[in-house]
Amino acid sequence: MDLIDGIATTRAIRRYRPDPIPEEDLAEILFAATRAPSGSNRQGFRFIVLRDGPRAVQARELLGQGARKMWEEKRQRDGYDAGSGAEVSSPKARMARTMEHFTEHFHEAPVIILAALWCHRRSSVALGGAVWPAVQNLLLAARGLGYGGVITGWQEPCEAELRAILGMPDDPKLELVATIPLGRPLGHHGPVRRRPMAELIYEDGWEVPAAWAVDPDGTRFTSAGPPAGTR
Ligand SMILES: Cc1cc2nc3c(=O)[nH]c(=O)nc-3n(C[C@H](O)[C@H](O)[C@H](O)COP(=O)(O)O)c2cc1C
Repeated sequence: MDLIDGIATTRAIRRYRPDPIPEEDLAEILFAATRAPSGSNRQGFRFIVLRDGPRAVQARELLGQGARKMWEEKRQRDGYDAGSGAEVSSPKARMARTMEHFTEHFHEAPVIILAALWCHRRSSVALGGAVWPAVQNLLLAARGLGYGGVITGWQEPCEAELRAILGMPDDPKLELVATIPLGRPLGHHGPVRRRPMAELIYEDGWEVPAAWAVDPDGTRFTSAGPPAGTR
């Protein structure tokens, strides 16, 4: 697959077929993850793969509970049932149904990968840069092999218990940063939708348009997600 095509079609996949992921494919996906750049090449990223081992089973259960709790809170906070959300066919209502199904079933995904980071100094946005390229490499490699997944923060509500189950050192420098379910998509991969390049790319100054920054023919767009007005 062409690299740019892969990048442009690596969507968040939240429904999976039950087929397991063969170890050769898992190895390739995680090889890609571990080839990512990091500041000073510190390589502080770590990945814990959850399949069907006894600790994985316990961790999946906890993550499922965490996901349902976080989605319920987000549903209320972002008003998914209010306004257009009350109309069954609105994008908001469709998203709510997707998330409902996802949080009910995500703990059953063929593989769940936890991304962690050894922080050499206090956690910060810049330090996050030491792990997200690896996570995106992982998703792109999965896409290349016909799998799909999505970055989630579902570890957050159950982090302490999860760390204990998985035997992670009780060290504040070791952060759990993301939970990524992976599997063969139930639907299809398709083009991601983002804002037009003209809204996101500047040249020589803030909000100065770059005439050459033109999306390829046929690109479809979407506005930014909630909260409304987020730039
Ligand atoms: C840092 C980060 C955190 C995310 N957290 C979640 C999450 O907790 N749950 C979830 O379902 N999706 C999560 N996502 C996925 C985004 O919702 C998704 O990528 C975005 O809506 C765009 O969808 P698309 O990639 O299919 O176009 C996260 C993405 C990123 C980059």
